[in-house]
Amino acid sequence: MPHRYAVIGNPIAHSQSPVIHAAFAEQCGEVIDYGRILGDRHDFAADVQRFFAQGGLGLNVTLPFKEQAWALVDERSERAEVAGAVNTLIVLPDGRLRGDNTDGIGLVRDLADNHGFTFAGARVLLLGAGGAARGVLVPLLGSGLRELVIANRTAERAHTLAVLGSGSSTVPVAACGFEGLIGERFDLVINATSAGLSGAVPPIPADLLAPGGWTYDMLYGAEPTAFCRWGQAHGAARSLDGLGMLVEQAAESFRLWRGVRPRTAEVIAMLRAAD
Ligand code: ATR
Repeated sequence: MPHRYAVIGNPIAHSQSPVIHAAFAEQCGEVIDYGRILGDRHDFAADVQRFFAQGGLGLNVTLPFKEQAWALVDERSERAEVAGAVNTLIVLPDGRLRGDNTDGIGLVRDLADNHGFTFAGARVLLLGAGGAARGVLVPLLGSGLRELVIANRTAERAHTLAVLGSGSSTVPVAACGFEGLIGERFDLVINATSAGLSGAVPPIPADLLAPGGWTYDMLYGAEPTAFCRWGQAHGAARSLDGLGMLVEQAAESFRLWRGVRPRTAEVIAMLRAAD
């Protein structure tokens, strides 16, 4: 019997995770069975328990269950603890469940390892203060950046996230509404808002990027996202979407389960070509 893994979400049909993990397994010469589970919105816990009772070894968790997964586990990594959300479930040898969150390390590795962004000394802006922003906070603050500013439409939520970040790191973290960004310059602007789902870009100043500054959209799509286009139109040296982050978060889950870190470049290229 191949070792069983799956991604659980609702909806789930669109998930690329089975394709990504099948590619990792093939590359590493491992035999795994990685499926999709349409989670019950009213009884997520029962779906998880059934999967592990039937011998499953690990689950990826996606929308809308990441917070429920956080509440369900027996123990959590520090980055998952602060994220308030879990995207990777690992069954421990004693049968207890451990929750981790690989989204933030996926973001940092895509920028630093795949694209060569230098976090050391960088002034970074995180747009958004919802689940996506909170999910990447700890790895972002551990990346070597000099200062993080969190800006959100609802400034109060940005302040809450900044307090959370300050509690888990010695890196300076500031917060504001979008109007507070006037006159500010950043080496990297990361979009973690969901504005792009409706083709919108947060109302940010046109001169937000420092010379040589980059933009990164945590969303991705077959066409350049609205925020990628904003970056291109406003002088970004690099304007990246979140496809690499998707593959990198999967690679970190694979490593947690299998003890091997797969190469990601060829998988990113395969998905890009399939778009
Ligand atoms: P997610 O899990 O995608 O982060 P969320 O927790 O609902 O979803 O958070 C959505 C984020 O996108 C929030 O930061 C939200 O801003 P508010 O906190 O003010 O609601 C932001 N957002 C959504 N639509 C937006 C828009 N059109 N312009 C700017 N920000 C937007």
